[in-house]
Amino acid sequence: MMRTHRGGELRAEHEGTDVVVCGWVANRRDHGGVIFFDLRDSGGVVQVVVDPVRPGLDLGHRVRGEWVLRVQGTVRPRPEGTVNVDMPTGAIEVAADAIEVLSESEPVPFPLDDRTEVDENLRLRHRYLDLRRDPMQRNLRLRASVNRAVRAAMDEQGFCEVETPMLIASTPEGARDFVVPSRLKPGHFYALPQSPQLFKQLLMVGGFDRYYQLARCLRDEDLRADRQFEFIQLDLEMSFADQDDVLDAVTRAVVAAAAAARPGEEVGTVPRITWHDAMERYGSDKPDIRFGMELVDLTDALAATEFRAFHGVDAVKGIRVAGAGDASRSTVDGLVDRAKQLGAAGLVWMRVRDVDGRIDVESPVAKFLADDERAAIVATLQAEPGDLVLIAAGPRRATCQILGQLRLDLGRPPVSEGLAFCWVVDFPLFEALGDDGRPIPAHHPFTMPHPDDLDRIDTDPLSVRSQAYDLVLNGWELGSGSVRIHRPDVQQRIFSLLGIEPEEAHAKFGFLLDAFRFGAPPHAGFAFGLDRIVAIFAGEENIREVIAFPKTQSGGDPLTGAPSVVGPQQLVELGLRVLPPKT
Ligand code: AMO
Repeated sequence: MMRTHRGGELRAEHEGTDVVVCGWVANRRDHGGVIFFDLRDSGGVVQVVVDPVRPGLDLGHRVRGEWVLRVQGTVRPRPEGTVNVDMPTGAIEVAADAIEVLSESEPVPFPLDDRTEVDENLRLRHRYLDLRRDPMQRNLRLRASVNRAVRAAMDEQGFCEVETPMLIASTPEGARDFVVPSRLKPGHFYALPQSPQLFKQLLMVGGFDRYYQLARCLRDEDLRADRQFEFIQLDLEMSFADQDDVLDAVTRAVVAAAAAARPGEEVGTVPRITWHDAMERYGSDKPDIRFGMELVDLTDALAATEFRAFHGVDAVKGIRVAGAGDASRSTVDGLVDRAKQLGAAGLVWMRVRDVDGRIDVESPVAKFLADDERAAIVATLQAEPGDLVLIAAGPRRATCQILGQLRLDLGRPPVSEGLAFCWVVDFPLFEALGDDGRPIPAHHPFTMPHPDDLDRIDTDPLSVRSQAYDLVLNGWELGSGSVRIHRPDVQQRIFSLLGIEPEEAHAKFGFLLDAFRFGAPPHAGFAFGLDRIVAIFAGEENIREVIAFPKTQSGGDPLTGAPSVVGPQQLVELGLRVLPPKT
């Protein structure tokens, strides 16, 4: 047997036990007569004491950081005064009887503790060392426990795990595909799946009424803190199910995941908010509901104003920043600049004051507003003396978004603080009209319109709601889904509205449309990003911190050197010629 215990798991109850432990030397201290080192393994670290004058133990002098050792010894209590209460193994130590060097290490390029800030490129270049550090160990183990909890929750609910292929034809998720050249059919390419969307719908036609998969998805899009080229979705689809069924199944999975990752933190009932209300109240379709500072509509209250900035505009919206009435002029000017940067024509600010027992506002624009208008602002916002009020006016959507961003700038707690899930429902079916005047789908073209809005689909498409829904956590979009169209006539109407001709539809999605001719059950589904949920559970701002081998912001892997060039022989085999880079 190589080892009897994980050193990091030894405790006072093991005192007197003969053990064999293996691990890396984390920290070595030579105290003249005796040598101490911390031995790190996947259970944590344990202190090993070596008396180098004992036969065979003079090796202790030679041992260096990150060497891999096998230590045979006895667990004993630490001498009085040397107990470390901050360390799980801090009450004991292993007195070595024999040491075997399993592997030596060169000096490592950065300290493997969790205190030192290390350049990310260097960390990724030596990810195998970075992975030895506590935060990465914690994050990846947390990730594994979330995977386990999610799988168990899906299994419990009768979902069947099915794997879908990686080499496929394109999926309509709206990002760029990664493509793979075909050797057997030169000039032809597979796409890597942006999601298993079409296959999971085919599985519904195939009679698997509850499917799920921890699916690897690939999208060639610009990388950001919450985006990688490849990521994992908990992907699911259900037949004979409506929106409520999907929301319920997903809620069970995320509640189980939260219980595994953040025990003791109650998730409670996940609230639902319509897309329209989310935009009006938070200025975002992924509202961070952990804090208030909601957007308040002042359009009616100021309908009759003469003040030019508020007169005759589509919307006037305000937020109340509680207790910020004494913000310095430069802070306030900074907010105005930020609003302008975000596209606002301007930002009105008001300090709310108690003037002789009456609440009023102090603002450069106060004089342009009638007494009753100032009073209406204060009353509508329920502002109190000592508050700062910020007001923006202009086109409704943009105004809400600008104030929504200011709200986040001013009030957003750190990502690790609390867990506030919410469902955003009733998304619009179309995002906007494209340059050709045709609507652009907000989700994907298989999303079922809201039944109450179907009659407006040709006349006023932008007002049509869909049966699409998002799950949001702490202001991050975690996942999306929808009730799908399973009727060929409705699908045809949507395609023609989008300007997708029958031939094009057939070329792109013919296999799905064909399948729908053979008894398609009504179905609905969802997918949430596992990397994102784990990052939030771990309190990380960037999903790279919860991925074992991520890509850098510029899409490279400093460890393996990907992407790299391929040799001429391989190109010939694939029937490819590489053009010189564009200058
Ligand atoms: P959608 O495209 O909204 O929906 O993706 C679902 C979730 O996947 C995660 N995600 C990402 N995570 C990391 N890096 C990325 N580049 C990335 N892109 C997406 C997000 C996102 O909310 N097929 C539909 C789902 C359905 O309708 O059932 C889909 O993929 O957390």
